[in-house]
Amino acid sequence: MSHRKLFLLPGDGIGPEITAELEKVIAFMNTKADAGFEIEKGLVGGSAYDAHGVAISDDDMARAMAADAVILAAVGGPKWDSVPYDVRPEAGLLRLRKDMQLFANLRPAICYSALAASSSLKPELVEGLDILIVRELTGGVYFGEPKEVIDLENGQQRAIDTQVYDTYEIERIAAVAFELARTRDNRVCSMDKRNVMKSGLFWNQVVNRVHDEKYKDVTLSHMLADAGGMQLVRAPKQFDVIVTDNLFGDLLSDVAAMLTGSLGMLPSASLGAEDPATGKRKAMYEPVHGSAPDIAGQGIANPLAMIASFAMCLRYSFNMIKEAEALDAAIAQVLEDGLRTGDIMAEGCRKVGTAAMGDAVVDAFAGKLAA
Ligand code: IPM
Ligand code: MG
Repeated sequence: MSHRKLFLLPGDGIGPEITAELEKVIAFMNTKADAGFEIEKGLVGGSAYDAHGVAISDDDMARAMAADAVILAAVGGPKWDSVPYDVRPEAGLLRLRKDMQLFANLRPAICYSALAASSSLKPELVEGLDILIVRELTGGVYFGEPKEVIDLENGQQRAIDTQVYDTYEIERIAAVAFELARTRDNRVCSMDKRNVMKSGLFWNQVVNRVHDEKYKDVTLSHMLADAGGMQLVRAPKQFDVIVTDNLFGDLLSDVAAMLTGSLGMLPSASLGAEDPATGKRKAMYEPVHGSAPDIAGQGIANPLAMIASFAMCLRYSFNMIKEAEALDAAIAQVLEDGLRTGDIMAEGCRKVGTAAMGDAVVDAFAGKLAA
């Protein structure tokens, strides 16, 4: 039995509650399917700040680097609104992404048919939606230097963030998007602001070149990122894979997420490059939603995005495709059965809490695996 090392970072707010439901899934896989998952846990975000005065400690960073996969729930909350900028909760998340070099962020937006009516768009626009946003995650304006506020010594200050992309950063994220497209509907739409930004023009040129050199079989189109946002709410099903930079990806993935009915439903994977020696890649999985401090500790949070993030982990880190599909099917099943946490509650459905939802997924998962 192979040992698979998972490093769990429950973080803040509802993070610990949804992590507890994921642990049920993992425990089930260890006892029933002999999966050999080993769990370590650490602190990130406000919880790390309270314990160590930093957003993630060097020790926990080292554990994250050594794990086969990191699973992070959520960080942040009003309690830490006034902590120094460089140790704010989000800094822990950004350090994990940067130090582990997780440049490829995969954010699928799938509309479960049971939830089509909860979308703010008409059900026919979102029913059957299955798009994948591939967001560049370690470059662009998030990390570009200079990043500072300077004093102009005339009574004014100037705030500077820097949008910067090197060739290799665009090449590798484009390659990820094209490769993934080949496993889906074989279409990529690249989004940038080449009408305003040098870096957008460059992004566009590099994506075109990578396409010409290696991925001619994939259909490539381009959109300006603002038009892309508009098209996402006008006719979202026109897209298969969208590839875009760090900042536009942040915005567009929230838009795409909401199409599916609830931000509480969406998983994500952040992947590094494959190590040629071992074939492994560093990886972190997290729900797209935040720490929801307003409902923390009440046992009502939706654990499904967290569990769906683990399904991505099974798929991308451990190549356990059968199990990943069974877990995704289990989530769809509990929704079909009418179970709902408060965020996705609808008429005629049964409202359940975090733990009951987790239990129901484990039951359905057992059924799917046995089938
Ligand atoms: C996300 C979040 C983060 C980001 C925040 C929490 C720093 O919005 O993962 O989309 O901006 O990348
Ligand atoms: Mg975001």
